[in-house]
Amino acid sequence: MSAFDINSTGESVGKVFADKIKGKTVIVTGVSPGGFGADTARVLALYGAKVVLAGRSLSKIKATADAIKKEVLAADLKELVLDLSSQKAVRKAAEEVLKYSGPIDVVITNAGVMGTPYEKTVDGLELQFASNHVGHFLFVSLIMPKLLESSAPRVVLSSSVGHFWGPVRFDDYGFEDGKSYDKWLAYGQSKTAVILHGVELAERYKGKLVVFSVHPGGAITNLFSSMTKEDYEKFSDFYNLDGTPKGDWARSIGQGTATYFVAAFDPSITDHSGGYLSDCKLATEQAAPHATDKETAKKLWELSEKLVGQKFDV
Ligand SMILES: NC(=O)c1ccc[n+]([C@@H]2O[C@H](COP(=O)([O-])OP(=O)(O)OC[C@H]3O[C@@H](n4cnc5c(N)ncnc54)[C@H](OP(=O)(O)O)[C@@H]3O)[C@@H](O)[C@H]2O)c1
Repeated sequence: MSAFDINSTGESVGKVFADKIKGKTVIVTGVSPGGFGADTARVLALYGAKVVLAGRSLSKIKATADAIKKEVLAADLKELVLDLSSQKAVRKAAEEVLKYSGPIDVVITNAGVMGTPYEKTVDGLELQFASNHVGHFLFVSLIMPKLLESSAPRVVLSSSVGHFWGPVRFDDYGFEDGKSYDKWLAYGQSKTAVILHGVELAERYKGKLVVFSVHPGGAITNLFSSMTKEDYEKFSDFYNLDGTPKGDWARSIGQGTATYFVAAFDPSITDHSGGYLSDCKLATEQAAPHATDKETAKKLWELSEKLVGQKFDV
């Protein structure tokens, strides 16, 4: 069982697993400055990983890379432009990854949007479902050959406690083309899908790779840029109207990323592949049943294959 807790940070967990991090190739998606992804990449570089910085904006990737290089002179970084809201762009990025030499040992699918106004992607999908789940489903599936080249590959999927807000709406994942859109149900749907993706990946790749979904912990980041005054009123138990957190639930970015490092490197949890982690601990029992049901996970895999127009058999 994990020895880490809410006081742990990505850096303190990383230090314990420094020997496991050194020399590994790790892809982190969503590495814009000020978020979990950038700090995760920084800590990975600090402990000697080869880090692939994946994001939709090359200038933000470069800003994060520059900041890391200032702290870690020998940082081994690669840039990868990846827009998860476009399947064509995801395929292009995956093609690039497939040309890398050597395995991908870990992928941390951290990128995400939250509570955005209704928007349809170029592929005709609701934006939060498309970016948070479908894009990552396609990306991980396409780079699977590179992950399977690793002797002990791991996939870390960023979910959220927000998965409680909604199940996957199999009969209407697009909210009637936006007519009945509720941005919080949509965020919940997308983050439920992330956990289910982990459940089914674990099932299909049993013995071949290890996967965890993670609630990284609440921290004020750019994720909150879509929040309105009405949203803060709705969540008034947790926020003041100016968006500052109420109570003591809020974590630093470092505390938020600690659970990613447990999921990616802690050998003591290997046998629990497919599980959900929160506050550095296995917390599958605490996740919503709609996010952990095996039949639902299989159904989502099939829906996801349909949405990307490709089957991914093991
Ligand atoms: N912060 C929290 O309290 C909290 C709690 C639970 C879960 N999480 C999860 O943690 C993850 C990281 O969030 P964060 O708080 O660090 O927020 P953040 O700073 O806004 O980071 C999100 C990252 O995702 C990227 N992204 C968004 N849409 C993308 C797309 N279509 N293609 C590629 N990249 C895209 C963003 O890029 P741009 O800068 O270009 O937009 C940014 O780099 C998210 O999955 C979030 O749901 C966060």
